[in-house]
Amino acid sequence: MDKFIIKGGYKLNGEVTISGAKNSALALMPAALLASGNYTFTNMPDLRDIKTMSSLLQDIGMMIKRKGHTLTLDTKGVSKYKAPYELVKKMRASIYVLGPLLSRYGYAKVSLPGGCAWGPRPVNLHIEGIQKLGAHVELEHGYIIAKAKRLRGTIINFDVSSVGATGNILMAAVLAKGTTIIENAAIEPEITALSEFLIKMGAKIDGIRTHRLEIEGVDELHTANEEMIPDRIEAGTYLVAGAITGGKIKIMKCNPEHLSTITEKLKEAGATLLIDSDIIELKAPKQIHPVDVTTSIYPGFPTDMQAQWIALMMLANGSSVVTDTIYYDRFKHVPELVRLGADIELNKNIAVIKGVKKLIGAKVMSTDLRASASLILAGLVAEGTTEVLRVYHIDRGYETIEKKLRSLGADIRRVSSKEF
Ligand code: UD1
Repeated sequence: MDKFIIKGGYKLNGEVTISGAKNSALALMPAALLASGNYTFTNMPDLRDIKTMSSLLQDIGMMIKRKGHTLTLDTKGVSKYKAPYELVKKMRASIYVLGPLLSRYGYAKVSLPGGCAWGPRPVNLHIEGIQKLGAHVELEHGYIIAKAKRLRGTIINFDVSSVGATGNILMAAVLAKGTTIIENAAIEPEITALSEFLIKMGAKIDGIRTHRLEIEGVDELHTANEEMIPDRIEAGTYLVAGAITGGKIKIMKCNPEHLSTITEKLKEAGATLLIDSDIIELKAPKQIHPVDVTTSIYPGFPTDMQAQWIALMMLANGSSVVTDTIYYDRFKHVPELVRLGADIELNKNIAVIKGVKKLIGAKVMSTDLRASASLILAGLVAEGTTEVLRVYHIDRGYETIEKKLRSLGADIRRVSSKEF
């Protein structure tokens, strides 16, 4: 287990290039199960989660090769329709193989993901969705076992807008017989990217970017190639890094449209932003103003940026309130941030943050991906040395974060477990 050692107090300056979106890649890779042949995915981030998805798909019979940021997938050998517990427990997004395996092969056995570091994360909408499409589902020994000769189009009305369930049902419905309507579908950019990729494969989908998707099932799909969209959460994290350190940074190869809520909030916090087609330049405010945020579905403030926003607000000149309405328990970073000198009071899903003048370095522990990002952000400004332990969480979703931060002037180094 590696750790990061950060010496705080350096203003970040310069350019940083954003990698391809992890959560988009994690949906597109299983979508390749829907047609036999070869696929080329470019701008693929080099991340632990992508390796986990590759291991799962290889276990199912895909051949996957990486060259730099290009991934080639050959799905001709797919012969096993099971996602084992050992792989699913590492990454909940493994559930994405359920829809495509079932619709293409008529059978899928996928381990139930269970909870995650910050609490329960149900998959009832995925299961109810495939049942409505006509699958026979049994839950046995911790596995979802789904069978259907051919799925049949239907109307599915999600009572909660879910990215994963929308993606899974989309991938199931594209090969179903007849028309499927998904009401209250998620409209996150990763779902739009998945819909556009499925259309490239020959799927018929209407209503993209709206909460009502209409899918006319087809008998067969064909392979296609795709470039991954930029990672909006990675981009947002670097914007906060610029703002919290009092720096001036340029985020390259991002999609500003996907970041509009975050950039608006950064402006409210006093930052100056220049937005171009795929570049955002941020000049940090002299003083960070307190700004409340409440997470919500896209285009609202993403829950995946909640921890990083708390880190920024810890140094604001006043009090702010951060509420998470998507994941009520997602606050494992708060006690760790308090160890660095933050003044945060947590009441259920509401964090009240009183800005402090300074943070002081300490040893802190990563508990999950975005929590780790908030600890690194705090370490960049804390006086003295901050050690962030268990950084394997960060490697799930931020490509070479220490190199990118160092290129912006941060003093951060990785110490591998062999060295301590
Ligand atoms: C995805 C993202 C994750 C992000 C989340 C919310 C990926 C791989 N992960 O996760 O980074 O934090 O969206 O933007 O894309 N829910 C149910 N029943 C279900 C499914 C979800 O009640 O069957 C609820 C969840 O508890 C949560 C809400 O729906 O309150 C949204 O979750 P969802 O959009 O499904 O998150 P994921 O797709 O798992």
